[in-house]
Amino acid sequence: MSNESSIFDQLNRPLRDLRISVTDKCNFRCSYCMPADIFGPDFPFLSRKELLSFEEIERLTSIFVHTLGVKKIRITGGEPLMRKDLPLLIKKLSSIDGVQDIAMTTNGSLLAKHAKSLKEAGLQRVTVSLDSLNDEIFGKINGRGVSVQTVLDGIEAAAAVDMKVKINMVVKRGMNEQEIIPMASFFKEKGHIIRFIEFMDVGNSNDWKLNDVYSKKQIIADIDKVMPLEAIEPNYPGEVATRYRYVGTNEEIGVISSVTDAFCGSCNRARLSAEGKLYTCLFSSIGHDIRDPIRSGLDDNQLADYLSAIWFKRNDRYSEERGKITRKTKRVEMSRIGG
Ligand code: GTP
Ligand code: 5AD
Ligand code: SF4
Ligand code: SF4
Repeated sequence: MSNESSIFDQLNRPLRDLRISVTDKCNFRCSYCMPADIFGPDFPFLSRKELLSFEEIERLTSIFVHTLGVKKIRITGGEPLMRKDLPLLIKKLSSIDGVQDIAMTTNGSLLAKHAKSLKEAGLQRVTVSLDSLNDEIFGKINGRGVSVQTVLDGIEAAAAVDMKVKINMVVKRGMNEQEIIPMASFFKEKGHIIRFIEFMDVGNSNDWKLNDVYSKKQIIADIDKVMPLEAIEPNYPGEVATRYRYVGTNEEIGVISSVTDAFCGSCNRARLSAEGKLYTCLFSSIGHDIRDPIRSGLDDNQLADYLSAIWFKRNDRYSEERGKITRKTKRVEMSRIGG
């Protein structure tokens, strides 16, 4: 089957990137994502039977790739390595003809254990979240006292089996802006691209304030003072990170500036939650249920029509409209759709 087909939304954006959350659980409690006082022991996480099975995810992915134009897959969570037997799913997805890129976003804490089997299953790249190199700061941010070394061991293990590794660092004013330079220097030395992410108003739990955002401009200015930077072109249309290179080198960094410099105009991403809801924006209030249709016996063509109709109607551009929004509606939590 060809995967040259494309479907365009109301703002003429094609669908290219499918982000699949495989669990809403996480072993961290990052203050900006799953604060421990809200995501406590009694929090109603999804039960096993609410989750899409690997076979259901494989079937849906195949339809997305073969009839809706998806080319890139990213596995997310919660923490995706909390899902049992994840390499089995990776193997299924990486075997789908037409998948050009398969990556995973992880907190890295379980990566040392699983890197080899993930790589053998076909995972090409991982993006590891790490917000500080200082144990005290990092332990506080992750809410579980997990050490920096645990995550660095995961990064080393992934690099050792030749996976491409990127690092994601969320920067929040008063939380970790002093860690920007140490993180940039450390990962320049290691040869892994680091992306700095502006603190975003995703979900309903992180008590977001505009004043807490440490902007792209500030991040770049801080680094440029110590290690001069020059802007470089995007790698591909719809790349969310603005790229920079250290002058005179091939080492690059990225900044993801959803708040101060939105990129909705080229947003080609759909997000599938672990329970089978399709979200057309990171800031959506509701997801479109796919689990019932898939379990009610629709054939592949019928499912493809159902999914196409959702993308066709899409007109989300939350980050571009953020400044004009006066009434806050309830939004999907980041831990449900993985960022
Ligand atoms: P590459 O494929 O390596 O370019 O990575 P990516 O651009 O897919 O990056 P990744 O999935 O690591 O995204 C990094 C972070 O950027 C996410 O965790 C989110 O916090 C944020 N992000 C990603 N996509 C979007 C988006 O469509 N909208 C907004 N507002 N933020 C996004
Ligand atoms: N703002 C910005 N980035 C966030 N992430 C989680 N919550 C937020 C937020 N409120 C990031 C994580 C991880 C990815 C899944 O999204 O640090 O890198
Ligand atoms: Fe877990 Fe990632 Fe959210 Fe942190 S940001 S709580 S590691 S899902
Ligand atoms: Fe895409 Fe929504 Fe992010 Fe804009 S805010 S880039 S539409 S996910």
